[in-house]
Amino acid sequence: MLNKKIVLIGGGNMGHSLLRGILKAGLTPPENFTVVDIHEGKLAAVKEEFGVHTATEAAGVIPGAEVVILAVKPYTLNDVIDGFSAGASSEQLFISIVAGVRGGYISSRIGKDNPVVRCMPNIAATVDAAASAICACSSATAEHLEIAETILGAVGEVVQVEEHHMDAVTGLSGSGPAYIYMVIEALCDGGVKMGLPRDVAMKLATQTVVGASRLVKESGEHPATLRDRVTTPGGTTIAAVHELEERGLRAMLISAVVTATEQSKALDRETRGEDSSKG
Ligand SMILES: NC(=O)c1ccc[n+]([C@@H]2O[C@H](COP(=O)([O-])OP(=O)(O)OC[C@H]3O[C@@H](n4cnc5c(N)ncnc54)[C@H](OP(=O)(O)O)[C@@H]3O)[C@@H](O)[C@H]2O)c1
Repeated sequence: MLNKKIVLIGGGNMGHSLLRGILKAGLTPPENFTVVDIHEGKLAAVKEEFGVHTATEAAGVIPGAEVVILAVKPYTLNDVIDGFSAGASSEQLFISIVAGVRGGYISSRIGKDNPVVRCMPNIAATVDAAASAICACSSATAEHLEIAETILGAVGEVVQVEEHHMDAVTGLSGSGPAYIYMVIEALCDGGVKMGLPRDVAMKLATQTVVGASRLVKESGEHPATLRDRVTTPGGTTIAAVHELEERGLRAMLISAVVTATEQSKALDRETRGEDSSKG
């Protein structure tokens, strides 16, 4: 149990998932938790569901916080920080899940050399299956990293990386669920095209992705080894694998990660007020 006074700014998709995960894991009691959001309706709902404190402005609640989780969209971050920075104190730990924005920038915008742990979870946090990466920024220590790892660990798996890898993490696992949704949808459509009822095709497509992922994870074997094992000479699977290679499935996914990584870098430049076409 961390038992820290936590303020979460941004009670949207990711903020809600983190709130639920932290309380479910018993990391801190609800009375130590404050959610800040501009939507009074969302705040009333989390108050009702979790018994946490709520506020529409961060400025009034930041002074009492030990840990502040930033879970707003990148384009609102500057305004959010400027709204509370006067009341922040240097020992408060900031945990940011804001895509693309460097931890050092957050610390310098607050202006008090706060420790910042930058994190990149993904939407599977909603079902406690997130793939998250974290890194220590500015004055963050191993102890700060451990706090962030415990918090992100409440909603899935966590790896530690160097900050220069965060854009690639964003391109791979941060945005990755969207790529896999497209894969599931396309597999389902393939089944429908070949005559399966849509509900049956969707169930089979979804479970195929879940099962294949579990096998990679639990066996520890390379995906290519597992693929070879189900590829009978002259059979159906090798015919389909040939088709996927000819149409460039792997090259497409590699390019998707590269493009999303570049976009993450551009977001950071934009937030810092630099021309996104430079560098
Ligand atoms: N969703 C993902 O898969 C994912 C994965 C990894 C990281 N992230 C990062 O997580 C962050 C949050 O993403 P999200 O999908 O949870 O976004 P979201 O659902 O839009 O949640 C953000 C919440 O903050 C509110 N908000 C806006 N301005 C605010 C302010 N000044 N003070 C307090 N609250 C304010 C938003 O209200 P409005 O809706 O009115 O703006 C919204 O309720 C983003 O930076 C994103 O890059 C997201």
